[in-house]
Amino acid sequence: MEQVEHYNYKVVRQFAIATVLWGAVGMLVGVLIAAQLAWPALNFDIAWLSYGRLRPLHTNAVIFAFGISGLFATSYYVVQRTCQVRLFSDRLAAFTFWGWQAVIVAAVITLPMGFTRGKEYAELEWPISILIALVWVAYGVVFFGTLFKRKVKHIYVANWFFGAYIIAVTILHVVNAASMPATLTKSYSAYAGVQDAMIQWWYGHNAVGFILTTGYLGMVYYFIPKQAERPVYSYRLSIVHFWALIFTYMWAGPHHLHYTALPDWTQSIGMVFSLILLAPSWGGMINGIMTLSGAWHKLRDDPILKFLIVSLSFYGMSTFEGPMMSIKTVNALSHYTDWGIAHVHSGALGWVGFITMGSIYYLLPRLAGKQAMWSTRLVEVHFWVATIGVVLYIASMWIAGVMQGLMWRAVNADGTLTYTFVEGVKATYPYYVIRLCGGVLYLSGMLLMAWNTFQTLRDSQPVNARIPGLPLAHA
Ligand code: HEM
Ligand code: HEM
Repeated sequence: MEQVEHYNYKVVRQFAIATVLWGAVGMLVGVLIAAQLAWPALNFDIAWLSYGRLRPLHTNAVIFAFGISGLFATSYYVVQRTCQVRLFSDRLAAFTFWGWQAVIVAAVITLPMGFTRGKEYAELEWPISILIALVWVAYGVVFFGTLFKRKVKHIYVANWFFGAYIIAVTILHVVNAASMPATLTKSYSAYAGVQDAMIQWWYGHNAVGFILTTGYLGMVYYFIPKQAERPVYSYRLSIVHFWALIFTYMWAGPHHLHYTALPDWTQSIGMVFSLILLAPSWGGMINGIMTLSGAWHKLRDDPILKFLIVSLSFYGMSTFEGPMMSIKTVNALSHYTDWGIAHVHSGALGWVGFITMGSIYYLLPRLAGKQAMWSTRLVEVHFWVATIGVVLYIASMWIAGVMQGLMWRAVNADGTLTYTFVEGVKATYPYYVIRLCGGVLYLSGMLLMAWNTFQTLRDSQPVNARIPGLPLAHA
């Protein structure tokens, strides 16, 4: 009997399912902490339900569990399809899946217990940090090993973005996580004072740059042309904005530390590089949206394409807003306010969430050997519910943020503050309730996706597509 070579879809399927499940969990925790900000009694005086412990659980769950599982699924799929070879090692790929799930479960247990390194987005204590590094090195070996044995000469641009994200995250994580363990659950950073802050925000900002941006641009360059059935608008632009983006991001971190003990010139460099960052960001956004030229009509009745294209509009919006917020005088108003939270979630819900959902909707039927999702209508409903959710979330936080900034800086003629802090909190209350409504809608959309995913995968035979146009491996 003849045997044919197949792609490894198993690990892609596992990560795709993990993306949907963890997305629902992470957003549920987001909704809970949003409700706690409106009604603090919702922590029920239980330590592990307190805001300070659940907030990092939310950020870890949505970025590392939802976001990165989506990146694993799509990068493993794209690198195989564009190189026309099976993954470099099935075993290592399986290790990345189970290792990553172990990291997530460890986070779900330790964060509510209050174990944390106290660095934002790098909270997980040293034993988990080491596991992250191991998984990440294995990820690099699988990804670059696959590129290395490719049967297609050209390295398609999506792989450049995925590759840069994998390399950068390894460096960022290893440098920022360097610490001295005191006990199994407590360690101290290898850096002190302002250096520690600088390293942390070099890491923090590049987590945005390389996870929440570069990795997802890898999705843009594969799934938008595929779903639209059009070539990338300008392949040359994709290469130019790739190099410009990865060069510029690395220097922008100090904009998180304006008006701190960090030397003033460092803050200014951070600001200037953030302003420059607008150009490569918009290069990618325009390139992605223009890929639809001549096929705009497809947007009317293809909800997957709606997710993919609207995500780019949010990407454009948040990468315009970011450089503006990095200007020191603007930051003097926006920092510490909910404007920052609006910016984060226009990127997180609108860009990261939508591009992931669109790409996973593209993948699921193909992984299940079906023509389409169980219900395309439900995908359409998901799109609209989520869009209304994002708009409610970010509009309420923008208004709240600007209002807080203005109230905090208002002074009377005699130099005293016009408002007490608690007056600002009281004025914000209605906006917290509106944000919560937006969050509930966004979460509902995710639950519809989970249901649709379950129905699509139910009674489907796992598929492993045959690698095309190649000689059979064995006769
Ligand atoms: C149902 C959806 C969501 C809701 C209701 C929600 C709610 C929240 C809330 C209430 C906070 C804390 C804000 C504060 O401390 O003032 C927060 C923080 C955060 N969320 Fe979400 N979130 C959601 C989805 C997401 C997603 C999908 C992502 C990422 C992909 C994300 C990323 C973040 C980040 C990075 C922060 C920390 C922001 C900062 O420190 O400036 N969220 N979220
Ligand atoms: C050109 C691109 C961007 C620039 C220059 C930029 C700039 C900024 C600035 C100035 C802040 C506020 C810092 C502060 O006052 O503390 C910020 C916060 C943040 N941005 Fe962006 N941003 C960009 C794009 C994005 C995108 C696409 C995302 C995706 C989700 C994102 C996620 C975040 C997060 C999570 C924070 C909160 C960090 C924290 O304090 O915990 N940014 N960004």
